[in-house]
Amino acid sequence: MSQRDAGDVQVVPISEEYIESFHKCLDSVARERRYLGFIKAPSLELTREFVLSNISKKIPQYVAVEVGRVVGWCDIAPNKGEGFTHCGTLGMGVLHDYRGQGYGTRLMEDAILAAKESGIERVELEVYDSNVQAIRLYEKRGFVHEGLKKKARKLDGKYDDILLMALFI
Ligand SMILES: CC(C)(COP(=O)(O)OP(=O)(O)OC[C@H]1O[C@@H](n2cnc3c(N)ncnc32)[C@H](O)[C@@H]1OP(=O)(O)O)[C@@H](O)C(=O)NCCC(=O)NCCS
Repeated sequence: MSQRDAGDVQVVPISEEYIESFHKCLDSVARERRYLGFIKAPSLELTREFVLSNISKKIPQYVAVEVGRVVGWCDIAPNKGEGFTHCGTLGMGVLHDYRGQGYGTRLMEDAILAAKESGIERVELEVYDSNVQAIRLYEKRGFVHEGLKKKARKLDGKYDDILLMALFI
């Protein structure tokens, strides 16, 4: 695939118009069966509820958009329960053909900035130990390794460890 002009893809806060396209993007990455905690997207209805709730609560969720099509996302949702809301959990993904072109970095930077502005102090995440690209991206931004859940996933006959990472912002 040819390199795109960086100007072709915009990183913007998610809005209602992008919900269906975000759902397709999420589903596409989930169906790769390697990177996310689920192997297909939740239903469109549940995804719509999730996004509308994020919008109404001003929870940081950014999407990378190319002519109306969502090609990546990053969200940092505050954890639930008294005593835990200063922590946020990061989730992200970029469509296969759009990886390695800086969109993940841009999405994460915008989401971290918004998370900081919303009062989140600690961003945490879980990543499969086999997911070298994602781990590099997080390490580059200063996330540190906090622990490892051994053989936490068994999928398609293969085990994977889950690495716990966090960043104070
Ligand atoms: C992880 C992911 C979101 C990164 O998005 P991206 O747009 O490819 O990231 P960028 O192009 O901004 O690259 C950021 C860094 O990732 C690392 N990286 C990217 N591609 C890489 C590769 N093929 N091998 C090793 N590291 C790689 C590099 O450190 C890179 O920084 P650099 O270019 O300065 O060296 C993307 O690979 C993805 O969607 N993966 C599948 C879903 C996923 O893993 N989600 C996270 C679950 S925890």
